[in-house]
Amino acid sequence: MWTQKYQPKNTKEIVGQEKAKESFLKWIKNWKSGGKAALIYGPNGVGKTSLVYAYAKENGLDVIELNASDYRTAQKIDEVIGASVKQQSLFKKGKIFLIDEIDGLSSEDKGGTNEIVKIIKESNYPIIFIANDPWDKKISKIKENCVEIPFSSLTYWDILKVLKNICEKEGIKHDDEILKYIAKISEGDLRAAINDLEKISVGKKEISKKDIVYISLREKESNVFDALKIIFKSKSALSSKSSIENTDKDLKEVFWWIEQNIVNEYEKKEEIAESYEMLSLADLYLRRAETKRSYKLMKYFIDFMTIGVSLAKKQEYKKFVKYEYPENIKYLGITKVERKDDKEMIENLAKELHCSTRKIKTQYLPYLKFLSRNNK
Ligand SMILES: Nc1ncnc2c1ncn2[C@@H]1O[C@H](COP(=O)(O)OP(=O)(O)OP(=O)(O)O)[C@@H](O)[C@H]1O
Ligand SMILES: [Mg+2]
Repeated sequence: MWTQKYQPKNTKEIVGQEKAKESFLKWIKNWKSGGKAALIYGPNGVGKTSLVYAYAKENGLDVIELNASDYRTAQKIDEVIGASVKQQSLFKKGKIFLIDEIDGLSSEDKGGTNEIVKIIKESNYPIIFIANDPWDKKISKIKENCVEIPFSSLTYWDILKVLKNICEKEGIKHDDEILKYIAKISEGDLRAAINDLEKISVGKKEISKKDIVYISLREKESNVFDALKIIFKSKSALSSKSSIENTDKDLKEVFWWIEQNIVNEYEKKEEIAESYEMLSLADLYLRRAETKRSYKLMKYFIDFMTIGVSLAKKQEYKKFVKYEYPENIKYLGITKVERKDDKEMIENLAKELHCSTRKIKTQYLPYLKFLSRNNK
């Protein structure tokens, strides 16, 4: 895989992430036994894991990596690494511990975080945690004992540069448009961008914008989240309205996405009430449009659910919100069967391949989908 082939071999090769790199290096260079651990978080595919490995390679350290969600409880993690973090070795190679998905600990594991804190305090080696959701209350105690290192999405230009570089090294001719397209839809996720590039380049020496059809898959999934983000975070009528232009989802489905997530985003009662008021008006116009077959009325449906909900808030929200899949659609069973199959398949694959379900989703599934589409 190209993501592995072009993995950064030292910290200089990590693209972007200047601030994260700086605070990581500062933390690890000053680290002493029992000192704070590091908590890394940020979007997918932006170099979090890569930075740790690049640093280790540069400094001749072993990385001992485990995924917290595979173990579920702090006690199990302690059984696995508890003794080795305490070990003192004067002659052997140094090591760092990397514990991914720390927020994947079971929420029933009460007191579990105390055990993790104990590991941090007794450790003779630096420990790095990676979290999907650093605001998860479950890990707040662990967080107190960590230096936080946030990663950001990579810029379009950074991604474009990497893609060009790979094309050159692989000897692949390309027009600019295809690379720009991949960079744009990657939304700052370099892994996704490299995967897309590799996917469309299989067995080819030349790629062009005609190859775009192969990449549309992931793009579709992210759009509704983008729209939600704009509607809920901004107080701009125009952006809210145009946010849904690019979603390929049915507008009625978008309606349920908004409905589901109002309470996840807005905090004030009046804002929530006002938002539902707006949705009920939207719903009214939708019915009228449909029963009277007057599709002119659809624009009011759209305005109320986008602008109406966006302007229902008093202030702009900046916090991180994990948007939920609409219960209503689940209930109606529209995509239920397919999703259930997906989940089961992913769990089975994870078991077979001994890795987390997240890894299956982000790193294996794109390939498998590609292969199955080509009947291989
Ligand atoms: N900042 C970066 N510089 C260079 N290469 C990168 C960078 N970010 C991602 N990559 C490329 O993408 C691949 C995946 O990156 P990495 O595993 O570091 O992502 P991550 O941030 O840990 O994502 P996840 O949250 O999904 O685990 C790397 O193997 C590398 O090829
Ligand atoms: Mg990672």
